[in-house]
Formats: sequence, C-alpha cells, structure tokens
Amino acid sequence: MAVSVVILAAGKGTRMRSKLPKVLHKICGQEMLVHVLEAAFGLSEDVHVILHHEHELIAKAINAHFKDKTQIHLQNVEQYPGTGGALMQGGGGGVAPTPIKTAYNRLLVLNADMPLVSKEALMPFAESEESNALGVFSLEHKSGYGRVCLADKQVSAIVEEKDASPEILALDTLNAGVYLFNQEFLQEFLPKLDKNNAQAEYYLTQLVGLGVQKGVRFAPIFVNAHDFLGVNSQSELAAAESKMLDKLREQAMQAGVCMHMPHTIYLEKGVRFGADCVLEQGVHLAGDCRLQGAHIRAHSVIESSHITNSSIGPLAHIRPNSKIIDSHVGNFVETKNAHLSGVKAGHLSYLGDCTIEGGTNVGAGVITCNYDGKGKHHTHIGQNVFIGSDSQLVAPLSIPDNVLIGAGSTITEPMQEGDLVLVRPPQVSIPKGYFKFFQKP
Ligand code: UD1
Ligand code: MG
Repeated sequence: MAVSVVILAAGKGTRMRSKLPKVLHKICGQEMLVHVLEAAFGLSEDVHVILHHEHELIAKAINAHFKDKTQIHLQNVEQYPGTGGALMQGGGGGVAPTPIKTAYNRLLVLNADMPLVSKEALMPFAESEESNALGVFSLEHKSGYGRVCLADKQVSAIVEEKDASPEILALDTLNAGVYLFNQEFLQEFLPKLDKNNAQAEYYLTQLVGLGVQKGVRFAPIFVNAHDFLGVNSQSELAAAESKMLDKLREQAMQAGVCMHMPHTIYLEKGVRFGADCVLEQGVHLAGDCRLQGAHIRAHSVIESSHITNSSIGPLAHIRPNSKIIDSHVGNFVETKNAHLSGVKAGHLSYLGDCTIEGGTNVGAGVITCNYDGKGKHHTHIGQNVFIGSDSQLVAPLSIPDNVLIGAGSTITEPMQEGDLVLVRPPQVSIPKGYFKFFQKP
C-alpha cells in the first residue's frame, strides 16, 4: 500500500556533545540521515524530512545524495518543540498548527537517528493493513527508549523514560521510533498534544495514548531491535557502526571474500568485490572501491579506487581514483589518482596524478612531484622503465618507454626512448677525511 515517509531530523542531538548535528554523524562513511533516506526511498517516492537545527548544512548533505527528490520542511521549534512538534506546520497567533501535508494518506514517521534501518525492515509497516501502528522491540539495554504499554494485543500508551514509574520502566516492550499514522488521525489528535511532561515538549509518543483513549486502535508491529537501534550518544554511534560493519563483512564473506581477523576490517557500503579477494587484518576500505583478484595486505587503506589482480601493502595508502591492475604496490607506498598497469612499486613511494605502464619498476623512495604550489600536474611513465631509488620526477613530465633512471636523480627535462638518465653531483672522496673529522689517530 502506498505510503509517504516523514523523517524527523530537527533535533539538536545534545547528547552527542558535538558541534556537528547528530544526523550528520557518519557510520561506515555515510551520514546517519542518508542511511535512513536510502531506506525511505526504497519504500516511497514521497519522502519528507523535518529540519531545524543547522538546517542549511543538513539540506546540503541531503541534496548531495537525493537532489530535488526530498521534500524539506522546517519545524517551528520555538513554538512547537519536540518530536510531536516536528509534524506540526503553520499555526501560531491563535491558529492551530496542521499536520504536515503528504502525497499519500498513510504516513510512515521515522526518527532520523536509526541508521541501521533498511527497506526490508520497514516493509511490514508499508504492507500493514492497519490504519495506525507502532514499531516495538525488546533490548537488554533499554535506556533512552520509551516504554510501550500493551493491552489486548494493542498498544495502549507509550511512556517516555523520564516520565515513567518503576513498574513501567521494567517493561520489555520499547518504542522503536517508527510510526504508521493516517492523515485523519493526525488532523484530529496533533492539536491535542500538550507539553505536560518532564521535557516540556510535544511528544509524538503522546499521540498514541490520546488516540487509544478515543477508541483508535494502534497495532504493535514487533521488529528486530538491531534494525532500529537509536543513536543518541557517541557510544551508541560506535555500537551502530559496529553492527553495520558486521553486516557488510558477513555479506562480503558470503560473496567469497577471504578475511583474516574480520573484526579488524573496516569497509563501507560502496565497496564492491569480484572473485578471489583476500583482505588481511586491519584493512580499511572506504568509498567507492572495486576489488577483483586483489590481495590487500595488513593495515592498508584504500579509498575510492579500483584494484584488479594486484597485491597491495602491507601498510600502503591507496587514495581516491587510483586504478591498479596486474601490479604490486608494497609497504609505505601512497598513490593518488594513479593508474598503474603491470607495475612494481615495492616500497616507500608517493605516486600521485600519474600513469605508469607495464613492465616498469619504481624504486624505493621515488616521488612524482605533482604539486608546484599552485596546481597539480601529471606524470606519464612508459613501459619497461627502471626508476632508480630516491628519484624525484617533477611534473608535468613524460618518460618514454625503455628508459633507465639512475638512483637519486631529480628529473625535470624530457628524454628519448632508450636513454640512461643520471642527475647526480659527482661523488667526492677526501682521503682520511673520516679520521680528520672525528679527530681520531
Ligand atoms: C524517541 C522517542 C522514544 C523512542 C526513541 C527511539 C519521543 C518523545 N521519544 O526518543 O519513545 O523510544 O525515540 O529511538 O519521541 N526531533 C525533531 N524535532 C524535535 C526533537 C527531535 O525532529 O523537536 C527528531 C530528532 O532529530 C531525532 C528524532 O526526532 O531524529 C528523535 O529525537 P530524539 O531526541 O533522539 O528522541 P529520543 O530521546 O531518542
Ligand atoms: Mg533518539
């Protein structure tokens, strides 16, 4: 059944103790709100987000992913604070606020601080025959969640922790923060909310009790706690990320990725694996990565790059837009926007903004000097080039095929195919200089 989705993201997130708005905190490289929006767009094309605190910054993050698709509304927090106030539009000057307008009569209302939610987890709400329903779960650590009172298999009330008696606090049924309402219900009951609670805010959760008193049925929909964990603090953020990592690692292993010490491996949603990938301990894969036949050795970091039939690391840093094919990139090598095909770069190099062709060997300590203080420049290195250790290649530069560059050279000038190039001051030897310097006999 068609449903509009409304995501509440106007809160300050005080408990995060951070200048960054709560919903922009990231898990697995992506803002919490963006994770929730992905799930929402899986269900409906009519998606609304309610903002207030830092709304411009948050709107920018939304538009970076879902430009022109998301309908953004501002909450009048001064007059209508709280999660109930978030659904109130207009009002003031003696006029009652009205519920947010949506394309469909049925509204799925979600908190924005539940980054583990997915389309699949929300499906039971979209498919529910009920007019009004509430997501309910049980969890060992109940702290922070509203308690759901049930009577005759229906929800009778939600009591916030701060307002709950010891008996209510002991209940194992918790409010997941996902609600199915219809517009008529909101029209009738939203204006009836009050601020008579511990936080002096309009609680969305009070709607349920108000409705039930007037004979409205609220069906509990029992959900898996792991899909709806709320994030209110840095430690809950870390716990949610840990859960998402478990899921991403499990999916990768199911798809045939071999992981050593999987609990130490970090990866993000955008990472795609082909056949025959091995990830050693402490590997960090971020952004839009494509790996196929890749052996990533311990403690290497790969960001938005493609690795095909190559070994990387240990302790290598592959920065965005690198494409590494049939190559070996060893320890302490950093690449950025580097295209390597059939290359060996075994140790201690910086390879930025460059193309390096097959059969080329990059010696230890080689640097492509891509930045001149004003702009970035490209280095092209042809086939079967041998670059001696500790050489600097000052871009823009093109090195033809079959060139031998002596160790310690600073290359700034063009050369011909087949050249041996050496840029070094001649060696000076002063007889007995050692003994004179240290005043030894
Ligand atoms: C809320 C529920 C609680 C539930 C829990 C699930 C209420 C009163 N309590 O508590 O029953 O168990 O979520 O995680 O709803 N927001 C606004 N405008 C505001 C205040 C908040 O849009 O004026 C947004 C926040 O940005 C956030 C969401 O609403 O995304 C929930 O707010 P939060 O303060 O996290 O509520 P909880 O205390 O977690
Ligand atoms: Mg919360």
